[in-house]
Amino acid sequence: MHPPRILSGIKPTGQPHIGNYFGMMRPAIEWQERGEAFYFIADYHALTSVFDPAKLREYVRGVALDFLACGLDPAKAVLFRQSDVPQHTELAWLLSCQTPMPMLENCHAYKDHLAKEKTPSHGLFAYPVLMAADILIYDANVVPVGKDQKQHVEVTRDLAHKMNALYGPIFTVPEASILPTLATIPGLDGQKMSKSYGNTIELFPEEKTLRKKIMGIVTDSTPVEAPKDPASSSIVALYRLFAPPAEVEKMEVDFRAGGTGYGDFKKRLFGAVWDFFAPQRARRAELEADPGYVDGVLADGAQRAGAIAEKVMQRVRTAVGLRH
Ligand code: TYM
Repeated sequence: MHPPRILSGIKPTGQPHIGNYFGMMRPAIEWQERGEAFYFIADYHALTSVFDPAKLREYVRGVALDFLACGLDPAKAVLFRQSDVPQHTELAWLLSCQTPMPMLENCHAYKDHLAKEKTPSHGLFAYPVLMAADILIYDANVVPVGKDQKQHVEVTRDLAHKMNALYGPIFTVPEASILPTLATIPGLDGQKMSKSYGNTIELFPEEKTLRKKIMGIVTDSTPVEAPKDPASSSIVALYRLFAPPAEVEKMEVDFRAGGTGYGDFKKRLFGAVWDFFAPQRARRAELEADPGYVDGVLADGAQRAGAIAEKVMQRVRTAVGLRH
């Protein structure tokens, strides 16, 4: 048995947040011990929403630094920038030619756009096809993602089956790996944490910024003295990610007992988040002090990923009749 090939990506549309961390980055870092892991910064994808070139460069660098600071080990996993491997877009075109329009019309990013009465670009509409190419071009078996990406992995599987039926077994059919308890991390307002909802907690903000964000978590107007329901609170849901079980239990008991205000619970949450990321924060500062380091990692990653992508692409070009 070959070790599994693992692939995942993250869009540089801002600084990574704790939804990204628990939903994808941490599981991805764990997977690097168990197979051949490929993780990329999806800058082609970010172009559907980031139109400021300086910002895009800054976000790409920030994502790389955060991922490395959190434990991605370039000796174990390949970290690269999507646009350094242009075979992704080449394969996306070939897949596009077999993608039924209704399949994309059914995808939620496109439907959300329409619901908000925004005009989607063709790039946004076709985004799941590029994502399928990102995965299929590495013969990936496993795709660690949060729940919001499940539909896109389903599209990828459908396209792989369709291409295999038409041209012979050219693609490995991948599976999403979604950790049930971490499938959807809530944001400051209780909805799914997402850059587009403006409810995120980034991994490495200034202490003051983090405190302000956490103190701003939306709560109901239950008075201090009244009992509160821990099950429906996003403070407790977030605390569970950061604090040991005994501390979580204590918070739940204090919720039910009454006599403690939400402000106090938020302070506990702030302390837990700040402490949780302390080692990674120190590591990030070290990495940032060496400006050539990230460039070196990404250059090396581009080479390693590019070699595999080109090999798969040669197989596919031949199978579809573009080459002998
Ligand atoms: P992106 O950049 O939106 O998010 C990166 C990863 O973080 C997960 N995530 C969450 N998980 C749990 N709770 C949340 N609140 C939360 N918010 C985000 C996402 O599920 C994702 O796994 N299309 C992808 C990027 C991509 C990709 C790929 C992923 C492009 N090509 C190929 C895998 C394979 C995206 O927009 O992720």
